[in-house]
Amino acid sequence: MTLASSIRTIPDYPKPGIMFRDITTLLGDARAFRRAVDELVQPWAGTKIDKVAGMEARGFILGGAVAHQLSAGFVPVRKKGKLPHTTVSIAYSLEYGVDEMEVHEDAVVKGERVILVDDLIATGGTAEGAVKLLQKIGAEVIAACFVIDLPELGGAKKIEALGVPVRRLVTFEGH
Ligand code: PRP
Ligand code: MG
Repeated sequence: MTLASSIRTIPDYPKPGIMFRDITTLLGDARAFRRAVDELVQPWAGTKIDKVAGMEARGFILGGAVAHQLSAGFVPVRKKGKLPHTTVSIAYSLEYGVDEMEVHEDAVVKGERVILVDDLIATGGTAEGAVKLLQKIGAEVIAACFVIDLPELGGAKKIEALGVPVRRLVTFEGH
């Protein structure tokens, strides 16, 4: 079993020409899920990571497991309007248009070492917004980790340009 083979590809979803990389098959396979989490945390095993931040929604699944594995706290980066306490928000770019994401202003203590986790990086708009948001509330963003990178869309380069190293487990060419 390889991680790549545990990910299902759905052609022409959600629209013609898009190859949708579906991680539900990876998540549903106990060995693949464990392997993905183990490989994501591998560089930080035994180091001090204060918190793991995950982006709603798919980043919650992997980020929660990664946080548990590292004995770190978890910070949900949520879509606008979902968090009850005082928030800090940032606009981020989607394929079409912009949206906003938020975290609680007290989600990290200044200088805490945070790694960001999501299932996939494509254009990098989501991850870039999350990195900037976490930095805004005082986090030291140590790395951004993804199960899947679509390098043709340039997202990982965008994050590395912010000085944040990118870890990815599987790379797919094409969109
Ligand atoms: C998907 C994926 C990443 C993001 C990557 O999330 O889970 O979070 O897109 O795209 P980008 O690098 O171009 O920003 P989506 O917004 O579809 O929502 P979901 O996680 O709630 O399903
Ligand atoms: Mg997402």
